[in-house]
Amino acid sequence: MLRSLPSLNRTIIRSLFTSSLPRSHENPLGLPSNTSRVPPQIPRRGPVSGGLPPKRKIPNVKHVVLVSSCKGGVGKSTIAVNLAVCLSLLPQRLRVGILDLDIFGPSIPTLMGLKGAEEPELTEDGALIPITNHGIPTMSMAYLLPPLAQPSSHDPTPTNEDTPVVWRGLMVQKAVQQLLFQTDWSARSAGSKLDVLVVDLPPGTGDIPLSVGQLVDVDSTLIITTPDTLALSDVRRGVAMFRKLNLPLTGLVINNSYFICPGCKERHYLFGGNPKDEQNAFMKSMGMGGDKIVGELPLVVDVGRGGENGVPFALLGRGAVEEPGEVWQTAMRNVAERVWKEIAHSNAPVR
Ligand SMILES: Nc1ncnc2c1ncn2[C@@H]1O[C@H](COP(=O)(O)OP(=O)(O)O)[C@@H](O)[C@H]1O
Ligand SMILES: [Mg+2]
Repeated sequence: MLRSLPSLNRTIIRSLFTSSLPRSHENPLGLPSNTSRVPPQIPRRGPVSGGLPPKRKIPNVKHVVLVSSCKGGVGKSTIAVNLAVCLSLLPQRLRVGILDLDIFGPSIPTLMGLKGAEEPELTEDGALIPITNHGIPTMSMAYLLPPLAQPSSHDPTPTNEDTPVVWRGLMVQKAVQQLLFQTDWSARSAGSKLDVLVVDLPPGTGDIPLSVGQLVDVDSTLIITTPDTLALSDVRRGVAMFRKLNLPLTGLVINNSYFICPGCKERHYLFGGNPKDEQNAFMKSMGMGGDKIVGELPLVVDVGRGGENGVPFALLGRGAVEEPGEVWQTAMRNVAERVWKEIAHSNAPVR
């Protein structure tokens, strides 16, 4: 039997607009306290004797891929959902899910056609049940927020993605732990585990990426960037963070790398120069080979439109997309194959 969450929204609404509830940070999502899934504790002080707690596996998930970026707006979430779709379409027929950890800017529900979805139900032991569309189970903070406003003629579809999260750091940390460790990815699938969980991280190198890197056993990470000099120089920070956390970096995806002119069919590199030479020099300066650039995706207007309409562009079959879209789809599939290859060939035994 499943339980609905009548009290959950009340808890969240209350905590959203209050910054000093004495104990609300202990259970920010308002999940029932009789759960046996106790999230790990983040140490309050630095490593004293035993250091950080050991990294944990996410329950019912075999492999975890982190999708990160050092700046917002570079296409991270778009690539996260399309990566999940492409992984699920590989011949291995992987079971793939998406966890949206961009607490302050969740966009997975919109990109997956789940804008305005009902609150998640709970399992018997109080874990969140993911919400599925296009065959991909998803979990996002946005599902747990009330809509920002009542529908009106001015805005007929207010959405919970518009609701601001105004939490302090500790609340955010706890919510992240609950989303990570108190979501049941085997629910509604006859108990079968996810082969891959794609995690959409918030941009930058702040608290959330840091604590995910410290708490979770990760198999692959991608850094999404655009080809401009400023974005690339920010990538250095992301690479440095992943190295510090000892996370396996599969590589960089350069989004909006070029534009294929519908008239002349030529590739136009939007930031000029000789991108290959510049990228190779950049990679060398970070001690990495050019093979760590695992994808260069063109700017394709319909990719953006697909996201707005809740249909990931990778789902559209051949014949349904024009040439620039096919180039984008091929590049995206190659990224998914590379990620899966890295996972399959990593030393970590398949669990
Ligand atoms: N390759 C692309 N071609 C065209 N539009 C894109 C492409 N990648 C992303 N976009 C659009 O760019 C915007 C930002 O993408 P998003 O995935 O939300 O970025 P982030 O998660 O990094 O903030 C969205 O409107 C999205 O539709
Ligand atoms: Mg995003």
